[in-house]
Amino acid sequence: MQKLLIKGKKELFGKINISGSKNATLPILAATILADKVTLMNIPLVKDIFTMIDLLKFIGLKINISKNKNRIEIVNSKNKIKTLAPYKLMKTMRAGVLVLGPLLAKNKKAKISLPGGCAIGTRPVNLHLFALKKLGAKIRIKNGYIFAEAKNGLKGTNITFPSISVGATENAVLAAFNAKGKTLLKNCAIEPEVKDLVKFLNTLGGNIKIIGRKILIIGCSKIKTNIKYEVIFDRIELGTYIIAAALIGKKILFNKIDPRIIKCEINILKKMGVNFKIQKSSIEVDKSNNIKKVNLMTKPYPGFPTDLQAQLMVLMTKAKGTSKIKESIFENRFMHVPELKRMGANIEIKDKIAFVKGPTKLTGAEVMATDLRASVSLVLAGLVADNRTIINRIYHLDRGYESLEKKLRHCKAKIKRI
Ligand code: EPZ
Repeated sequence: MQKLLIKGKKELFGKINISGSKNATLPILAATILADKVTLMNIPLVKDIFTMIDLLKFIGLKINISKNKNRIEIVNSKNKIKTLAPYKLMKTMRAGVLVLGPLLAKNKKAKISLPGGCAIGTRPVNLHLFALKKLGAKIRIKNGYIFAEAKNGLKGTNITFPSISVGATENAVLAAFNAKGKTLLKNCAIEPEVKDLVKFLNTLGGNIKIIGRKILIIGCSKIKTNIKYEVIFDRIELGTYIIAAALIGKKILFNKIDPRIIKCEINILKKMGVNFKIQKSSIEVDKSNNIKKVNLMTKPYPGFPTDLQAQLMVLMTKAKGTSKIKESIFENRFMHVPELKRMGANIEIKDKIAFVKGPTKLTGAEVMATDLRASVSLVLAGLVADNRTIINRIYHLDRGYESLEKKLRHCKAKIKRI
């Protein structure tokens, strides 16, 4: 199994290019089931994307990837679509459940393996199924599979989500895309990735509007063919590297991004004393010495994202005093804490709140990655710790960070895959 070896305390200096968003690309790839001929640009070449492509190929779409251009061409071939998402393709990537909505919308039926849980939680799909039933789908669960059917097609209706879910919002939008009549979704997730999916569907000929936490979908009857679409940048990758720069950067520049998308993260980091120079489409992070403590909780967008909680915790170890961060989205997203403690962090957890005492010196150690964002928090800790850090099970990292070592080495980090 591959590992990462990091020699800490190397000051970072230079420029980091931010890749396209994994969490925007996944639902947009699922949406290509509804399309005819599509070219997607700015695609992050990470493991989860290849898993989703394998699933779409299994379903029957013709796909070719031009890796050097981060571009995917998809043709919804005339041959038969398989309305099945098998366990073997779903077990490593829960977002495969997003093909349920489009298969129902296009083929009126689907058999989808129930996505397994993962390190951060049980990851149920009850909210997805709740919305699809409201749209008229017949759903039953048997032998670990979801059997969904809508013989006479789906019918637009009003749906209020009992709680906010990114995936359930995306599946409902995808299913309602060509449902008869209007669908009004309330209490929706409005992450930038949800908005990017809606923008893609409107490029495809859809008629979808986001108003606050409501999404209005007028059923689409005619799709456009031969469309090109560029996926939004990855705000979580950007936030991750901004925190790296705050931890041990001299000066790092991020271009071709939209700072407005990460307003909440910038405000929190400014409160902690991180030095920013912000332009219309770029951010520069300069040396930030006296990091201050902060208290916050993770929230649905536009609040502080749960996907940056582990990374922010590493910065908190440098802050004077005790910082607090409450994880309010997932039930078990502190798997990075025991590993950070082995590197010298002083963190206690009580009722889903992590109390991070600082400043503490982190020392290099051999550590274990458990999930995507926990793994990258260990990379950040390794960059700022003294001596060497070895990170095991880095396949978690490869699911969501494109060319991580290359981007960091480009900024003078001492990091390599062994
Ligand atoms: C998306 O997951 C992201 N994944 C996650 O990023 C992200 O952490 C999460 O949204 C929250 O922002 C993708 O977009 C591919 P949810 P998703 O449905 O859609 C509960 C990463 O690191 N829930 O918003 O699965 C759920 O258990 C990944 O890139 C139900 O109870 O998240 C959780 O507690 C990790 N029933 C909460 O809602 C449901 O039917 C939010 O989950 C669905 C969700």
